[in-house]
Amino acid sequence: MTNASDLLNIVCQVRDELTTVAGVNVVVGFAPSLWAALSPSNQPEDLADFSDMEANGIRLRAAQHDMWVWLHGASTGSVLDAALQAKRTLAGSAELVAEQQSFGYGASQDLTGFEDGTENPPIDEAPAVISLPASSPAAGASIALLQRWVHDLDAFAQMDEDTKERVVGRTLVGSVEFDDNPPRAHVERVVVEDDDGEEREIFRRSTAFGGASEHGLMFVGFSGDPTLMRVMLQNMIGQEDGVTDYLTDISTASASAWYVVPTLEQLRR
Ligand code: HEM
Repeated sequence: MTNASDLLNIVCQVRDELTTVAGVNVVVGFAPSLWAALSPSNQPEDLADFSDMEANGIRLRAAQHDMWVWLHGASTGSVLDAALQAKRTLAGSAELVAEQQSFGYGASQDLTGFEDGTENPPIDEAPAVISLPASSPAAGASIALLQRWVHDLDAFAQMDEDTKERVVGRTLVGSVEFDDNPPRAHVERVVVEDDDGEEREIFRRSTAFGGASEHGLMFVGFSGDPTLMRVMLQNMIGQEDGVTDYLTDISTASASAWYVVPTLEQLRR
């Protein structure tokens, strides 16, 4: 890595060039440890680099990198152009060590066929959901969880329709939630309530990846609370109560990382 101010200047260039030239959206995130070094006064509390989480025989493997550049756009070619440009711009400052192409599947569906994102907050409410509050030293920035989930679609295909729907706790057609879900259903595991019984929201923008031999979901979630998604993960692996998420029977988290996604203003400052 180069020195901190050089790196930040280069990252700002990446964003400036790509958003105007290629029609591609760019999100840049930093490992909590790197962000602490780059911008110590803007460090969110209660956030560290991802380390392996394990309970009940389920392991969520860490694959924490210093920086994450997320490019997304309607055209695969434009996204690739933008990726090449970002790589060139960052050459000498950062080395590309991992990349994953992904794609929108069906009508915002996971490869299992379930609609993914039904319970996302509406777009006008999303900024408040994903931004750290004014009381945080990193107010306005967002916390991202990036996870590569590898699916066993053959195992899923062998389940009968009723069992499949109970895995998530929603219907495959129409994404309607059941009101009598088993405790292992995904939506039962990831719903976290506040002291008033209100559901705590996150914003998810996950996409499918892979081919015929290996495939799954690139989970991308944003929150304005550094601990909320960690609690969801703990619930999925049954860390506190031993109740695991059915999804973990058919999917394995092969790579996980936390990133601080600063606002443009914080980056430039
Ligand atoms: C194999 C990986 C995963 C798959 C296939 C998956 C799929 C789904 C599906 C199909 C739904 C129901 C529709 C919707 O509201 O979007 C859902 C809901 C949800 N998921 Fe996941 N998910 C995965 C991992 C995760 C992870 C890692 C988290 C959090 C750390 C998470 C958090 C949520 C939340 C908060 C909801 C909304 C629950 C509600 O309010 O009813 N999911 N997911």
